[in-house]
Amino acid sequence: MLKDLVDRWALITGASSGIGAEYARQLAALGMHLVLVARRQPELEALAVELKSKHACHCEVIVCDLVAPQAVTQLMAEINRRGILLELLVNNAAFGVVGEVEETSGERIQELIQLNIAVLAELTYRVLPGMLDRGHGSIINLSSLSGFQPVAYMGAYAASKAFVLHFSEALAVEVRSRGVSILAVCPGVTRTPFFDIAGAPGWLQKHSSHSPELVVKTSLKALDRRRQVIVIGWRNYLLTLVVRMIPRTRVVRESMRYFRPRRKEQK
Ligand SMILES: NC(=O)c1ccc[n+]([C@@H]2O[C@H](COP(=O)([O-])OP(=O)(O)OC[C@H]3O[C@@H](n4cnc5c(N)ncnc54)[C@H](OP(=O)(O)O)[C@@H]3O)[C@@H](O)[C@H]2O)c1
Repeated sequence: MLKDLVDRWALITGASSGIGAEYARQLAALGMHLVLVARRQPELEALAVELKSKHACHCEVIVCDLVAPQAVTQLMAEINRRGILLELLVNNAAFGVVGEVEETSGERIQELIQLNIAVLAELTYRVLPGMLDRGHGSIINLSSLSGFQPVAYMGAYAASKAFVLHFSEALAVEVRSRGVSILAVCPGVTRTPFFDIAGAPGWLQKHSSHSPELVVKTSLKALDRRRQVIVIGWRNYLLTLVVRMIPRTRVVRESMRYFRPRRKEQK
């Protein structure tokens, strides 16, 4: 299956950092050509230069704020204009918001829902028909361990990842017999700037974590096996089983200790 990706094109959203940049590195090493999408042009350009010199692949950079109105329409039009046929879509761009209600702006939550849910779903629905027509193609959707349970002080993010998980699992079954694979990837804590951006600086350093390299390597192995869901790391996998067995109210209460603001812990 991975050998079918050689010399074909992948679109990676959120390729300027963390897990997305690592997908770019590992897919280029497999022989894919890449469309790199994010807002930060210098990071995308630097990655494109690195990958072109290492792997002699084609790398197209498209700078795009995916939450802007009509962003997905414009992105797909640009990809068509450049004559690119996508064999793989990696729906990776997303962000989290950690904090109490009063400290969180409604606009930021709206943006989160737009990027993590609406943009991912729209891109999937725009790319899938072509893949189904051709009878081959794959989509990797980044969900999360938090997609398996509600997480206090990070409720909108965890719920967005539950959407990604359920959406991907359902579509995967619909399209499987037509030669197309859809994989939901569920990493636990991973060493990227994610938690700093989410509003929990320093949080990552206090918890055990996986590298982006491991997340991407494990997920590509799962794609090769045409798996529909992959949880990264056996401890994380066990956690997904445990949360199904204990009462839901307890699961949510337990989640409070991860992101509860310090002043509340002292009460
Ligand atoms: N790190 C973790 O612990 C963890 C755990 C589970 C799941 N995940 C998931 O893994 C995926 C990658 O996260 P990461 O950890 O690699 O985080 P990251 O390093 O912060 O990367 C997020 C990427 O999304 C892009 N992005 C953010 N807003 C965007 C926008 N409006 N338009 C276009 N691109 C945008 C960012 O690029 P620009 O800023 O340049 O736009 C960046 O490339 C996410 O789906 C996340 O939910 C992460």
